[in-house]
Amino acid sequence: MNTTTPSTTNLGDTFTFPGTPFTVNRMGYGAMQLAGPGVWGPPRDRNEAIAVLHEAIESGVNHIDTADFYGPHVVNQIIREALHPYRDGLVIVTKVGARRDDNKGWHGALSRQELIDAVHDNLRNLGMDSLHVVNLRIHPAMGNTPELVTEPFTVLAELQQQGLIQHLGVSAMNAAQLAAAQRIAPVVCVQNMYNVAHREDDAFIDSLAQQGIAYVPFFPLGGFNPLQSSALSEIAASINATPMQVALAWLLHRSQNMLLIPGTSSLSHLRENLSAASLELAPSSTLSPA
Ligand SMILES: NC(=O)c1ccc[n+]([C@@H]2O[C@H](COP(=O)([O-])OP(=O)(O)OC[C@H]3O[C@@H](n4cnc5c(N)ncnc54)[C@H](OP(=O)(O)O)[C@@H]3O)[C@@H](O)[C@H]2O)c1
Repeated sequence: MNTTTPSTTNLGDTFTFPGTPFTVNRMGYGAMQLAGPGVWGPPRDRNEAIAVLHEAIESGVNHIDTADFYGPHVVNQIIREALHPYRDGLVIVTKVGARRDDNKGWHGALSRQELIDAVHDNLRNLGMDSLHVVNLRIHPAMGNTPELVTEPFTVLAELQQQGLIQHLGVSAMNAAQLAAAQRIAPVVCVQNMYNVAHREDDAFIDSLAQQGIAYVPFFPLGGFNPLQSSALSEIAASINATPMQVALAWLLHRSQNMLLIPGTSSLSHLRENLSAASLELAPSSTLSPA
C-alpha cells in the first residue's frame, strides 16, 4: 500500500478523552524510540529524530506519548526543539513514577518529592506551563496493590489542582489500582502493555470502553521484541500490507477507546505505521494470541 503521502494520511477516527476538550486521532505516535539505544542518551541520528516528529505532525498526528525518563530528558528536549511552540490541538501525554540509574536501569520513583520533581522536569524540558495529561506509572517490581496508588496519585491530584497538570491517567495498573486512583481524581486514560500476542487486559479494555476511558497500549508492535507471527504475515500478504500494519490495524479494530502510539525512530517505519489506519481488516481476519 502507499506509504509516501504524509499530508493526506488517514489516521482513523477520533476519540475525546473523557471530561476534557482533547480530541485526538486514534493513530498517534510514541516518542520513546527517539532516545539512543536502551532508551538512553542522544539518538543515533538527531536530524532523523526531528524529521520523524515533523512528519508525524504534518501527517495529522495530534497525540504524542513521552516521558522525561526517556533519555533521560533527551526525548522531551527533542520534542521541544522540533515542535515548540506546539500546534493547537496537539495533546502531549507524559508519565511519571520511574527514574533511571547510571547503568541505564529503571526504578520506581513514587515519593512525593520525586513526583514533584518529575512534573517540573517535564514542564521545563517540554517548554510547557501546564502538562496536558500525566500518567502515573507503577513500576512492576513495586507490586500491584491498590494501596500503592493512593499516596502518589494524591500528589498528582494536588499538582493538578495547582494547574501544573490538566488531566491524569495511569500506566501499568490493574482494575483495582485504577479504582483506587479514581477515588482520588478522574482518570482519562490507561496505558498498559497489550498487543496481538499479549491480551491479558481484554476484560479491562471492555470495562474502560464502557466508562469512556482511553486504553493506550504500549508495545503495540511487541516493543523490544518485535511481533513475529505466521498469522500476521499471512493476513498481511493477502491485503498487500506488512505484518506490523496488520498488528496496528487489529488494535484499531479491537475497540473504539483504543488509541495507538507505535514507536519508531525511522521515517519509513513512521509512514508504514500511520498508513495502517487505512487498512480494512476482513471480519474473518482472526488472529490468535500465539
Ligand atoms: N507506560 C509504559 O510503561 C511504556 C512502556 C514502553 C513504551 N511506552 C510508550 O509506548 C510507545 C510504544 O512502545 P515502543 O516504542 O516501546 O514499542 P512498539 O511501538 O511496540 O515497537 C517499537 C519497535 O518496533 C520498531 N518498529 C516500529 N515500526 C516498525 C515497522 N513498521 N516495522 C518494523 N519495525 C518497526 C521500532 O524500531 P525503529 O525505531 O527502527 O522503527 C522499535 O524497535 C513508546 O514510544 C512509549 O511512548 C510506555
